[in-house]
Amino acid sequence: MKSVVAAIIGIFISIGLGVGVYNTFISVDPAPTTELVEQKNAMALAQEREPKFPEINMADIPKDHEKLDEIIYGYNLVNETHVYAEDKVGANLSCTSCHAGAGLDTVASLVGVQADYPKYIARAGDIVTIEKRINGCMVRSMNGKPFEADSKELEAMVAYFDYISEDVEPGQKRPWAKSVDLKQVPTPNVQDGEQLFNKSCISCHAADGSGIGANTGPALWGETSFNDGAGLARMSKMAGFIQAYMPVGQEMTLTDQESSDLAAYILTQDRPEWGKHDTDWPKGDKPSDIMTKERREQAQNGTIDWAEVLVDYQ
Ligand code: HEC
Ligand code: HEC
Repeated sequence: MKSVVAAIIGIFISIGLGVGVYNTFISVDPAPTTELVEQKNAMALAQEREPKFPEINMADIPKDHEKLDEIIYGYNLVNETHVYAEDKVGANLSCTSCHAGAGLDTVASLVGVQADYPKYIARAGDIVTIEKRINGCMVRSMNGKPFEADSKELEAMVAYFDYISEDVEPGQKRPWAKSVDLKQVPTPNVQDGEQLFNKSCISCHAADGSGIGANTGPALWGETSFNDGAGLARMSKMAGFIQAYMPVGQEMTLTDQESSDLAAYILTQDRPEWGKHDTDWPKGDKPSDIMTKERREQAQNGTIDWAEVLVDYQ
């Protein structure tokens, strides 16, 4: 009899315990509150506003695309400019030297670039078409010659840019192609930049900056590099590019100070000159940080006034 009572009590205790445990679980997993719902909605909205990076694979172009041959030629011109347009390129560079994977990668990405063109460019003081923008890179970043207006090269490059912009609406935001300029550039120390360069960069860019290959480690200075009219010849852009994308495989590990030191060391070395600095920014607001020949010489002999160079960025 005693054991039956004990068993019954035992059953009641276990039911009680079970309900207790059940209640505890319920209270851990409450019904969604309005706050949570609001949070989830806000996240979904933000995702909608920040479009996802459209991965593009050249192997996926429809074989019946009416511009198939032009697009592939355009891709080759962008990816190996120094080979496919050898007579026009002054440097040992391709567009891929800065726009990795012919702009399909996230390094200075060109995916969707047509959504922004034609576009007002302060350096030109005018609205610039994609053709003019390509030629701007040809004469500055590639230290070369422009393509003729109706040339098959220019048309092919535009067909390629059209193709890699097909999924991006005109005017749509391209968060993957954000500007990387450093807004605040710390006063650099060129010697520190040199030491860091010799430690972290020469395996791909060589100790004399001439690089190991246009697409594997491009020339950072010297006769085979970009001229001082290129965007990267400016301290804010060079430091920002280095911090965002270098060293390859260890992006975003360098501090602002280290990126500025490296930019100053690289832009202190000799490079081809751009002959038309006088006509850039015709409507004013010329940035203070362009590393011209005069400034390179001052940096080399230790008389440069970094405060003046960086006045717009400190
Ligand atoms: C030495 C580095 C470098 C090389 C080489 C280079 N570019 Fe650029 N390019 C840049 C940078 C940096 C920018 C970002 C704009 C700026 O601030 O100047 C840019 C911007 C652009 C843009 C505008 C993107 C936008 O969102 O508005 C286009 C188009 C472009 N480059 C095309 C090319 C083409 C085509 C080539 C090859 C013929 C090329 N670039 C070679 C560095 C380079
Ligand atoms: C593992 C190889 C590797 C290392 C290490 C590396 N880079 Fe690069 N670098 C590249 C490649 C490849 C590109 C072409 C763009 C790309 O693919 O991202 C490039 C492009 C660049 C460019 C733009 C192209 C040009 O001609 O100016 C700069 C500037 C640059 N690197 C600076 C640096 C600096 C500074 C360091 C050291 C902190 C560094 N890189 C370390 C491989 C490397």
